[in-house]
Amino acid sequence: QPPNFQEGSDVLLKRAECRAKGGAPGFKVAILGAAGGIGQSLSLLMKMNPLVSVLHLYDVVNTPGVTADVSHMDTGAVVRGFLGQPQLESALTGMDLVIIPAGVPRKPGMTRDDLFKINAGIVRTLCEGIAKCCPNAIVNLISNPVNSTVPIAAEVFKKAGTYDPKRLLGVTALDVVRANTFVAEVLGVDPREVDVPVVGGHAGVTILPLLSQVKPPSSFTAEETEYLTNRIQNGGTEVVEAKAGAGSATLSMAYAAAKFADACLRGLKGEAGVVECAFVDSQVTELPYFATKVRLGRAGAEEVYQLGPLNEYERIGLEKAKRELAGSIQKGVEFIRK
Ligand code: NAD
Ligand code: LMR
Repeated sequence: QPPNFQEGSDVLLKRAECRAKGGAPGFKVAILGAAGGIGQSLSLLMKMNPLVSVLHLYDVVNTPGVTADVSHMDTGAVVRGFLGQPQLESALTGMDLVIIPAGVPRKPGMTRDDLFKINAGIVRTLCEGIAKCCPNAIVNLISNPVNSTVPIAAEVFKKAGTYDPKRLLGVTALDVVRANTFVAEVLGVDPREVDVPVVGGHAGVTILPLLSQVKPPSSFTAEETEYLTNRIQNGGTEVVEAKAGAGSATLSMAYAAAKFADACLRGLKGEAGVVECAFVDSQVTELPYFATKVRLGRAGAEEVYQLGPLNEYERIGLEKAKRELAGSIQKGVEFIRK
């Protein structure tokens, strides 16, 4: 086994902890599903993040190889690998942030809800581990269907008595990344200059880009609005079809997840004004969970922002999104309660 697999990295860990105590921020981050399509690239990107001092890679397969590989990168974070359910608790103990891309991806013709059967159980087991071993960690949930897996995680934490709504965030960052890219293409500008709020949830019509609130302020024709909304809502399916049975978005997702995790860590560190979209416990609509902009701080999603003014097109989209979201949320809640 590679030298820093499991227990072999104690010296390096002590050094990392000293660095953290010496003033340099150092957070402990676990990736669950680290050997998968998203997990591998995300492990690479989190190993490059200077805010991470310890990186735990957990999966039910292949973590020794991924861990050995990533651990050779000459960046600060100490990497440790954990393989299979018996090592889940060790992987989670002491973590500040847990990122979950574990679970099966879509194939052409499937909806995200078709993944519920398998992924609901995976998310339940992993969240039971979090409730037991790192109940104060921030959780970034990527596994689909996010509109149902976030309620599942919340119910597991409620059952365990550890639920803190500020600490559970469904990752919708890829919708924002796509929206910025597609809007920038239409406007003919650099995507890094564009900020598109995307609200609602993370599946089909529940993905609601607010083009009326794009920064810098921009106007779109009815055709552009229709084209952009459809493209953003179907960005995931575009990748699933292009991959033709080999899975769904992994590289752009790892990029989006790493960007979002970095925002969570900057919030934890106390940086002011960190704002991202995420699917969270919410009172913005009548639904118990909803994606909007949130302000990230030491406690997680410390502030959940209102939707702001919507135009007629967005108001109609919002009603459609809420109808679908209600069913997906209910399905997740019932999976744990029944
Ligand atoms: P993948 O099949 O390549 O990788 C999934 C990994 O999860 C595998 O390595 C597998 O061994 C692991 N796994 C399975 N059961 C596990 C368990 N019980 N504990 C720990 N690990 C386990 O899939 P992928 O392409 O990386 O996608 C993963 C998930 O992310 C899918 O559900 C996909 O739909 C979702 N996803 C979400 C978004 C989003 O925007 N939120 C974007 C893309 C993909
Ligand atoms: C995405 O948006 O790319 C993910 O949710 C994966 C999928 O199934 O589309």
